Amino acid sequence: MRLIIDTDTAGDDAFSILLALKAPHVTLEAITICNGNVPFLQQAENALYTLEVAGAGGQVPVYLGCPRPMLRAPVDATEFFGADGMSDAGFPQARQRPEAEHAVDRIIDLVMSNPGEIEILAQAPLTNIATAYVKEPRIAQALKHLWVMGGTDNSLGNTTPASEFNFYVDPEAAKIVVNAGFRLTLSTWTLTMASGVLPEAALARIAALDTPLSRFFMAVSQAPFKRTAMRYGRPLSTHPDSLTCACLIEPALMLETADCLVDVETQGELTRAYSSVCTPLTPEEAEIDKLWYAAPANARVIRRADTDRFAEMLIAALKD
Ligand code: BDR
Ligand code: CA
Repeated sequence: MRLIIDTDTAGDDAFSILLALKAPHVTLEAITICNGNVPFLQQAENALYTLEVAGAGGQVPVYLGCPRPMLRAPVDATEFFGADGMSDAGFPQARQRPEAEHAVDRIIDLVMSNPGEIEILAQAPLTNIATAYVKEPRIAQALKHLWVMGGTDNSLGNTTPASEFNFYVDPEAAKIVVNAGFRLTLSTWTLTMASGVLPEAALARIAALDTPLSRFFMAVSQAPFKRTAMRYGRPLSTHPDSLTCACLIEPALMLETADCLVDVETQGELTRAYSSVCTPLTPEEAEIDKLWYAAPANARVIRRADTDRFAEMLIAALKD
């Protein structure tokens, strides 16, 4: 599998990169950086350090993409991940530096020169992917598959009650992407809370590994542990991005999916970036109910994933 990861590298984004690096059948062709979790260039440093700590320094090029959302002011999540996105662990600067080419151009070049071969894991706000599509709409058909971590499945968000962070930061980009005609799988915050919270026993096993990568995992997780403890009464290890990566590495992890019609609210005040997810009307219903949602499905939505197999994959990736 030939993969691009589009990321606002902080916290779990880094563990997702580790999973891709450790999967024998995945070739990580590029990491592209999008605005999101923490200051833009810091996210590139986090991706570069993740490569280095995994022994892959200099092996995967990192490209800088769009430092701002399409229309809106930037929004970050430093209060959740720490000012550096890595729980202020104070990691040294990696030797590898970002490439000169813009991430959007690299995405277009890679996809268009390898039609039907490249998959993208979009685990950040969708500014880069939407911009690539606007610049070269043919990528929607040339891309083999787009895996998006974003939105909610008609359930509570993590940024506002109505919305999840990646969609909230750039709702216009999310709306463009879900309506662009990509072969698309959506991994929502609802799925994260249902299937992407690491069991305590698995967390204890990771801590006990005491390898460079398990120490990296524990160091990066400290700020999110503090914030989740405030909200949920105990520290939670939440894995929106790495669970999505695990599903693309091993599709059997997806225990339940549904083909849905997904769209994104860009006008609402309280509902900014709310993702509407519904199963399409039957043809008979569509004849009668000529409503906006009388349209075919545009995404496969993951409803349930195998938490235990995900945990085993993560533990295996942190073994050295
Ligand atoms: C998503 O938002 C970001 O903060 C995380 O990196 C993840 O991609 C979860 O809502
Ligand atoms: Ca992310």
